[in-house]
Amino acid sequence: MSFMVWTDELNTGIDIIDNQHRRIVDMINALHDTAKGKERDAIGNVIEELVDYTLSHFAFEESLMEEAGYQYVKPHKKVHELFIKRVSEYKMRFTAGEDIADELNNLLSRWLFNHIKHDDGAYVGAVKSQMQTVSKNKQEGGWLSKALKRFF
Ligand SMILES: [Fe+2]
Ligand SMILES: [Fe+2]
Repeated sequence: MSFMVWTDELNTGIDIIDNQHRRIVDMINALHDTAKGKERDAIGNVIEELVDYTLSHFAFEESLMEEAGYQYVKPHKKVHELFIKRVSEYKMRFTAGEDIADELNNLLSRWLFNHIKHDDGAYVGAVKSQMQTVSKNKQEGGWLSKALKRFF
């Protein structure tokens, strides 16, 4: 099972997204650590938290891409959807009593690394300028503060 190390190539340059991605990486590493203990309750909690947060991140990211009018938002959403399906299958196997933590950890670190680098990296140009606009009206109850409240 691999420990996921944050590298520069994972940075999108959009702070709010990078912070969310880092948090996901931290959670993957928490799963890595917790899985060693073989305590099912603890592992279950980490998986729950990790999946929850990742779903919120996806929803936030999709909303951001839509707001920015990013042309590939549809295929990007499809990729998120397929990933959620795969992860749900692992959750079901876990609930059924299987020991899937190592396998899930491997999938997550491999998949997320690629997804952040390639798919998320591809929307940066479109989203970055949009982000500067929405950050400005953060305090004034603009899109960003609403989206953060809605998804997290
Ligand atoms: Fe992302
Ligand atoms: Fe994404």
